[in-house]
Amino acid sequence: MPPPKTKILYQCQSCGYTSLKWLGKCPDCGGWNSFTEEERIAKLKKRETAEPIKLSEISHSTGKRHSTEILEFDRALGGGVVLGSVVLIGGDPGIGKSTLILQALKGLTKLGQVLYVSGEESPEQIKIRADRMKIKSNNIILLPETSLEGIISIAQDINPQAIVIDSIQTIFSLELPSTPGSVAQIRECATKLMFFAKKYGIPLFIIGHVTKDGAIAGPRVLEHIVDTVLYFEGDRGTPFRILRAVKNRFGAANEIGVFEMTEEGLREVDNPSQLFMSERPLGVPGSVVTASLEGTRPLLVEIQALVSTSSFGVPRRTALGVDYNRINLLIAVLDKRIGMHLGGMDIFVNVVGGLKIEEPALDLAIITAIASSFKNSPIDSGTFVFGEIGLSGELRAISQAETRVKEAEKLGLKRGVVPTGNAGNLKGSDIDVIGVKNVEEALEILFF
Ligand code: TYD
Ligand code: MG
Repeated sequence: MPPPKTKILYQCQSCGYTSLKWLGKCPDCGGWNSFTEEERIAKLKKRETAEPIKLSEISHSTGKRHSTEILEFDRALGGGVVLGSVVLIGGDPGIGKSTLILQALKGLTKLGQVLYVSGEESPEQIKIRADRMKIKSNNIILLPETSLEGIISIAQDINPQAIVIDSIQTIFSLELPSTPGSVAQIRECATKLMFFAKKYGIPLFIIGHVTKDGAIAGPRVLEHIVDTVLYFEGDRGTPFRILRAVKNRFGAANEIGVFEMTEEGLREVDNPSQLFMSERPLGVPGSVVTASLEGTRPLLVEIQALVSTSSFGVPRRTALGVDYNRINLLIAVLDKRIGMHLGGMDIFVNVVGGLKIEEPALDLAIITAIASSFKNSPIDSGTFVFGEIGLSGELRAISQAETRVKEAEKLGLKRGVVPTGNAGNLKGSDIDVIGVKNVEEALEILFF
């Protein structure tokens, strides 16, 4: 048989699109200058084929879950880790991914030995971290190895109950000529590791770095391969961290776990609303409380806005933790429907605690915070708002209003300004629920 032919391909390093020619702009993800040469070895080997199975004969044992003994982590996973599942954990450098995974591994040692593969830190460094977190276990095996073939052969020898790869960008396969961290390497390594995990029914955690624009580097390819994608988010200036499921084949996406970074590792936060509300300034313009929903969990958060006269020709609009386009839309609604002229104003909107919230139920809180700052008039501190806003300024009902109101009640709030569509179903609550039809009505109630 002739040796396998090699062919040069060009591959986009951010989305994995391949082309026979070098391209300046990726037609798939639109990235510029992202193509590099990748050699591809023609795969001549015959693929192993799987056996067909009757649906009725498949047993449930593959869906068995184990607890990591961290409730908030289990929750983000959809109720514990599924054997043979592949979980990708992404996040900014220094946010606490290695800390989190070490803590979770500790919980999994009750099953037996677990393997921690680190291509980034030496065993001594990991030991220092473990000491700091008071983790002592004979069952955590460290492996400072970056070659995929090496990792798989050692994993076969020691037969661990869980494997962590920290991080996928440092691992490379000897079969590919491209450098570690390239799309081809990441895809190859993740796929081989996944086959290994599925074959032996071992949970596999892959840690991935995130690029400046927030995607896991080499990433979309990875998100398709794995079963679960968790993002570890938070503002490095604050101790709060959110573990968010953005994809989950074994549970609800959008479920979150909340943590606080302490001197001795991550601490679970079982009442996050209380935490986010604890430092709220009272009686200050530009701040309002809203009840948001993350997965199945209600979360009270403070939305802040600052409106100030712009000293530049083009006013600045900054959105931290909320969608930038949404802010612009809501500013336009305030301008057109309420006659609040914000054209010459710099506007900053922030979700306190480094949270990122995407649901439209936040709209009314954003508009209220902006209006409050603009008028320099504070919102009553016992009041919360929620509701989606349409382009004509109308308030639309949102889902699970009852859960949100209950959470507000639990934290001692007294009054809720909500869409009329939701207010009808909330009659029984102890909170004074006021239904409003549009932004104008809402602001009238809130500022008197
Ligand atoms: P790390 O887990 O190394 O982050 P990542 O793997 O995402 O890059 O955590 C890094 C930060 O966490 C570092 O700045 C120190 C801080 N930290 C604590 O505050 N307390 C602790 O107990 C530990 C282990 C880390
Ligand atoms: Mg790390």
